[in-house]
Amino acid sequence: MRVQVAIVGAGPAGLLLGQLLYRAGIDTMVIEQRSQDYVLGRIRAGIIEQVAIDLLDEAGVGSRMHAEGLIHAGIELCFNDVRHRIDLKGLTGGQQVMVYGQTELTKDLMDAREAASLPTVYEAEDVSIHDFDGEQPRVRYVKDGLAREVSCDFIAGCDGFHGVCRASAPAGILRTYERVYPLGWLGLLSETPPVSEELIYSSHERGFALCSMRSRTRSRYYLQCSLADTVEQWTDRMFWDELKRRLDPEAAESLVTGPSIEKSIAPLRSFVAEPMRFGRLFLAGDAAHIVPPTGAKGLNLAASDVRYLSRALIEFYSGSSDGIDGYSGRCLQRIWKAERFSWWMTMLLHRFPDADGFDRRIQEAELDYLVHSVAAQTALAENYVGLPFRD
Ligand code: APR
Ligand code: PHB
Repeated sequence: MRVQVAIVGAGPAGLLLGQLLYRAGIDTMVIEQRSQDYVLGRIRAGIIEQVAIDLLDEAGVGSRMHAEGLIHAGIELCFNDVRHRIDLKGLTGGQQVMVYGQTELTKDLMDAREAASLPTVYEAEDVSIHDFDGEQPRVRYVKDGLAREVSCDFIAGCDGFHGVCRASAPAGILRTYERVYPLGWLGLLSETPPVSEELIYSSHERGFALCSMRSRTRSRYYLQCSLADTVEQWTDRMFWDELKRRLDPEAAESLVTGPSIEKSIAPLRSFVAEPMRFGRLFLAGDAAHIVPPTGAKGLNLAASDVRYLSRALIEFYSGSSDGIDGYSGRCLQRIWKAERFSWWMTMLLHRFPDADGFDRRIQEAELDYLVHSVAAQTALAENYVGLPFRD
C-alpha cells in the first residue's frame, strides 16, 4: 500500500489532518492502535476557539457543531464566595468560544472520513515508523495477525503523548521541556443541567473546582484532587458535597446533582518536544505537547498544528518546501504562548501542597488585580479565546 501521507493516530489531530488533506486532493491513510469505540469513549475537554471553529468549517465538518454547540461570550472566576465575570466577547472585540465535546467532534470527523471511504485502520498492533530521514518513509503494523506496510512521502505523528512517533525521533536532536504539577483533576460527567450559563473557574481553600458542560442537559464538573486519590474512593455523593463546598453559596444552592455517567482522574502536566519535524516525520497535537487542562487549550493546540501542517503539505505538493521547513518554528511560537497561559491559569487557581504564605498572597494579589484591571482581564480574555495566527 502506498499513500502520500500516512497518519499515525485517529484522535482529533490525525482525523482533522486527514480531512483537510482529503479536501485538497492529497491521499492519506490513518493508522490507529485502539478500536473506534475506545477512541470515541474517551471523555475530554470541550472548549473550541474561534480559529479552531474556522478550521473545522474549512474541513467541512462544522455543521453539527454549529447546530448543537453552545456559544459562550464569557467565563466566571469565583473566589472568596463571589463570582466575577470575564467578558470574553467585550474584551476581545467580539470573539467567543464554542462549547462542544471533543467526543462529538471526533465522531463528526470519523463520520466524514467514513463518508468519503478514506482508508482507516483501527486496532493496528505493533505500529512502527521507518526511514523518515529519507524520501520513502514507511509505517509498519500488524492487523488480524498479518504484518502490513504502508509506504508514503510523509508521516504525520498524531499519536498522542504515549505514541510511537515522538519516541522514534533521533534522541540527539529531540529536546523536551516539562513541568509536572503535584495534583490531579477528578472529572465527573452527569445528565444534569449545568449550574450556570457560563463556565465557573473556582479558586477555593479546599482546592480548585470547575463547572463546565456539554449541553443544556449534560454537565461536566472537575475537582482538584490528590494524585494519590482513586476514582473508586470518590463516591458520587462525596463529589457533589465537595463541589458545593468549593462554590459560592448561590451556585452551591442551585447545583443539580445526579448519578455520574463517567468519572476519571487526570494528572496535570506541561510538556513540549522540540523540534516537531525530523526529516519526513512531523509531530502534531499531544504527540508534541501537553498542557494542563486549566486553559482548555489541548484540542485547540492540536488544531493549530494541523492547520500549519495541512497548509505546509498542500504547499509541498504545489512545488514549495517553505511550509514544511517552517512548520516546527511556526507551531512552537503558538504552542509556547498557550503553554504559558495554561501554566499561568494553573498556578493562579489551584492550591499547591507545597505553597507557603508568600505563594498564597501572590495568588490573592493576582486575583484581586485581575478583577479590578481591564488590562489584566483583556490579557486573560485574548488568550482564552485563542491568539490570532500571525501567518
Ligand atoms: N500507533 C497508532 N496509534 C496510536 C499509537 C500508536 N503507537 N499510540 C497512540 N495512538 C493513538 C491513540 O490511541 C489516540 O487515539 O493516537 C491517538 C492520539 O489521539 P489524542 O490522544 O486524542 O491526541 P491528539 O489527536 O493530538 O488530540 C489532542 O486530545 O488529549 C487531548 O487534550 C488533548 O484535546 C487534546 C487532544
Ligand atoms: C471541559 O468542559 O471538559 C473543560 C472546560 C474547560 C477547561 C477544561 C475542561 O478549562
